[in-house]
Amino acid sequence: VPTIASFLGDDHHRCDDLFVEAERLAAGGEPGPARAAHTAFAQALTRHFAMEEAVVFPAFEESMGGAGGPTTVMRREHGQMRELCAAMDQALAAADGDGFLAASETLLVLMQQHNAKEEQILYPMLDRALRERETLITRMESVAAEAQ
Ligand SMILES: [Fe+2]
Ligand SMILES: [Fe+2]
Repeated sequence: VPTIASFLGDDHHRCDDLFVEAERLAAGGEPGPARAAHTAFAQALTRHFAMEEAVVFPAFEESMGGAGGPTTVMRREHGQMRELCAAMDQALAAADGDGFLAASETLLVLMQQHNAKEEQILYPMLDRALRERETLITRMESVAAEAQ
C-alpha cells in the first residue's frame, strides 16, 4: 500500500502533465484541442480536490478534534484554483488568448505553491496521523470515480 503522500503526490504530477499539455496547445493557437485538454486537466483537478476534501481532510480534521488549521487554508486555495480553471475555460471559449494566459499563469503559481505545501508538510502529517491507509486510499479511488 502506498503512503498517502506518494498516492496524492503522484496524482499532482498527473494533473501537472495535463496542465502542461493544455498550455502547449493553447500557445500553439489550437483552440479546439486546447479546450479539450483544458477540460481533461480541470476534471483531473476536480477529482484530486474531491479525494482530499471528501476523504483525507475530514479524517485528518477528526483526528485533530475538529476543523481548522492547515486543511482550512488548503480548501480555500482549492476554491481559488477552481475559479481560475473556470476563467481559463471561459477565455478559451471566447478565443481570448491573453485572458487564458493571465489566468493560467496565476493558476500555475498558486498550484505549485499549494502542492509544495501539501507534499512537504501536510501529506507527511496525514501519514503520521491517519491509520488504515488502505481503506482511505480505496475510498479516495471511489470518490475520484464518482467525481468524473
Ligand atoms: Fe490540495
Ligand atoms: Fe493535492
